[in-house]
Amino acid sequence: MTILGIETSCDETSIAILEASKKQAYFYIKPRAKIISSQIKIHAAYGGVVPMLASREHVKNLPIVYHKVIKQVFKTIKNAQSKIDLIAVTTGPGLIPALLIGVNFAKTLALAWRKPIIGVNHLEGHLLSFLLQQDTSQYTKNDFKKIFPAIALLVSGGHTQLIYVKNINHYQIIGETVDDAAGECFDKGARILGLGYPGGPAIAAQAQKLKIKNPPAGGIKLKITLPRPMLNSHNYDFSFSGLKTALLYSWQALNPKDKNTVIPNLADELQEAVTDVLVSKTLKASQQYQVKSIILGGGVTANQRLRNKFREQISQKKHSFNFYSPLLEYTTDNAMMIALAGFFNIKAKKLTESNFNWKQIDTDANLRLSYE
Ligand code: KG4
Ligand code: ZN
Repeated sequence: MTILGIETSCDETSIAILEASKKQAYFYIKPRAKIISSQIKIHAAYGGVVPMLASREHVKNLPIVYHKVIKQVFKTIKNAQSKIDLIAVTTGPGLIPALLIGVNFAKTLALAWRKPIIGVNHLEGHLLSFLLQQDTSQYTKNDFKKIFPAIALLVSGGHTQLIYVKNINHYQIIGETVDDAAGECFDKGARILGLGYPGGPAIAAQAQKLKIKNPPAGGIKLKITLPRPMLNSHNYDFSFSGLKTALLYSWQALNPKDKNTVIPNLADELQEAVTDVLVSKTLKASQQYQVKSIILGGGVTANQRLRNKFREQISQKKHSFNFYSPLLEYTTDNAMMIALAGFFNIKAKKLTESNFNWKQIDTDANLRLSYE
């Protein structure tokens, strides 16, 4: 089947076309095209995403992105209309003013084209994005048997969750952040250090400077240690708000003339603190739940230090877990992962008459990824 995916939950306007089908012995997945129109420059001035601005930009960009994708894959609207079998749209979690634009667009298409439509949980998209390759991929039942059960670490600007994945479509949240998300911690940390938005890539780039030149230009010998919040707590929850405050206090305590030279040290320590906690708790959960794999998903998993730390730790542990992370282009928000999650939802629940009822599709800012 050919699926049109639509994603507008935060600050990326994205539409993608995915071909996916269940053959006799395997799943066939072929990403055809995706366009992401990023609003980063607009929100950067405010140091974070402004919901109403995001909404306004989605209104402006969605028809343009749609037109481009359709032209690229189908040449004409008429052709697209006859080829597309399903519309998959993010219904939550996310910013309501932003979600509403994508959902309304998708419902209008479904109504006008008389096509089935399915609402997708954004986090399920992130979770499944490791299955997307640049070109065609095929997964047999045996492949899935090697992957699942798994523990998924979902880390983005809005979420930090550990999920026990019994199988595709069977999820249980076993831990999550009690305050800020990991990506939010990077974003707020970068703001403190004057590095701009989004903070994750900026923090990673500063930390990298330290690896190349240690001590950095101007040479400052300063050992700053930040806390590893909830590292040894007896649950799988996280907390990153105190870490950001600790960074702020360390920054404020510095002699102003040292501030510039010490940015790479602080960025590196923030990156180490966040990744230490994420890796340690994910491994602990994977051992306790005796899973076969660890799956990463979400914008923060673009972080190379996080990926490397996982690989190092997994190779040292007695339990050998398979390790899956998405291609870089599928780490941050995109509509291809939404189309993919839409496909697996249809496969699990089968396409029914109710999928033709666009009236049933609604947004939910706090949609939870927990179903048996
Ligand atoms: O998944 P995503 O695109 O959007 C949400 O659903 O929130 O994730 C965006 C988050 C931002 O907080 C951004 O700072 C973070 O992902 N991020 C990174 C990196 N690239 C993006 N964090 C750490 N290292 C990176 N390289
Ligand atoms: Zn996301």
